[in-house]
Amino acid sequence: MSQYQNPPSGTPAEAFNPFDAEIARDPQKHFKAVRDETPVVSTPPPFRNYVVSRYEDVRWVLKHPELFSSSAEAVPIGQDRPLIPLQIDPPEHAKYRRLLDPLFAPKAVAVIEDDARKLVNEIIDRFDGSATIDFHDQFSVPVPCTLFLRLMGLPQEHLDQFLTWKDQILRADVDPEDYDDASELIKAADAMRRDAGKQIYAYFSEAMEERRTKRTDDLLSYLVHTELEGRTLTDEEVLDVCFLFIIAGLDTVTASLDCMIARLARHPDERQALVDDPALIPGAVEELLRYETPVTGIIRLTTEPVELHGVTMEPRSMVTCLLHAADTDEREFPDPDEVDFEREPNRHIAFGAGPHRCLGSHLARLELRVALEEFHARVPEYTVPPEANLAFTPGIRAASPLPLLIGNAAKES
Ligand code: HEM
Repeated sequence: MSQYQNPPSGTPAEAFNPFDAEIARDPQKHFKAVRDETPVVSTPPPFRNYVVSRYEDVRWVLKHPELFSSSAEAVPIGQDRPLIPLQIDPPEHAKYRRLLDPLFAPKAVAVIEDDARKLVNEIIDRFDGSATIDFHDQFSVPVPCTLFLRLMGLPQEHLDQFLTWKDQILRADVDPEDYDDASELIKAADAMRRDAGKQIYAYFSEAMEERRTKRTDDLLSYLVHTELEGRTLTDEEVLDVCFLFIIAGLDTVTASLDCMIARLARHPDERQALVDDPALIPGAVEELLRYETPVTGIIRLTTEPVELHGVTMEPRSMVTCLLHAADTDEREFPDPDEVDFEREPNRHIAFGAGPHRCLGSHLARLELRVALEEFHARVPEYTVPPEANLAFTPGIRAASPLPLLIGNAAKES
């Protein structure tokens, strides 16, 4: 039996909801009490949800997929088949990763660096000289989304359509005012996701058909023509991978850029350090991924009764692995609230851990590094206007809008 016991009901941490909008505004300060007092927090019945927050515990959960499944039931996103490879458990999962890993290996993604640098500069060129920009709309959304279309070999004119689909799936933006009760609201959000899902599948079906007849040098063509265990992928498999790329690869980089720039804009010493010495930027990317952990938590489903810290999680319980709390755990990171661009070692788990660890981490790192290098070279002075009250979306922590005063306006504020 572990030294920790389930907390008596009514302790503050038992009411802890990591996806609450108020907590998302300033999450780090809430985590210590949760980790110390209630390392496994249960939410009230009937949901059977648990939140795990310490670094070693989160890694342990993620490294035991036989106990904690990633099946589609854990996070229904409005599609009928599992997302590949995210919602496939080992051992089947490994065969898809063997196919996809080489595409996202460091050497494979390095070839896009020059193109990415050029694109970031073109996006900065579009700032129209005004004293204020919305960093989210004008920079952190277009950078990863434009690069994604280029990698997939899809036309840039479809950017707006992709952004709409992405938001419909990830944010299901339905107005609560339009619905009488929560169940109607949930149904409407689900219908919106499903509808967007259908449109994405229809779009990709057509694009796949084109590549079948004419092979091109892009990711989609690779997926259509590659072989897995002596056969080509089925249409469904290609679609389930592409759908996941949209969900996994777009919002995450946008949110990371928002979190990083919001932090730097409010900590001028850190911003100036990067301007003065761009060699610090790769370390800054890692440290800001750790401290801000833009993907706050990921969910698993227990396959059998599992005991952790004296709490028995029943089979088929949802378990939220709170990556952000793990990445600010003093048991792993000395002085976790100090942001140190030269922190060594820095074994953060912003990209997850275990078999499902992020497929796109090298691509994400490249995009973030190039974006920070070029942005600081061109826009060395920036700050958040004093009147702005920044809010971050819960779950994947984007700041929309993210107003910035730039140039002289920043100096004078
Ligand atoms: C800074 C940006 C990013 C962050 C913070 C991030 C974070 C994560 C996390 C935490 C997971 C684990 C999910 C789980 O175990 O349930 C994951 C998985 C994944 N990510 Fe990323 N990601 C980022 C960028 C990207 C990009 C650019 C791609 C491009 C395609 C991508 C593709 C994927 C895929 C396909 C998976 C599923 C891997 C598997 O199940 O084997 N991610 N990501």
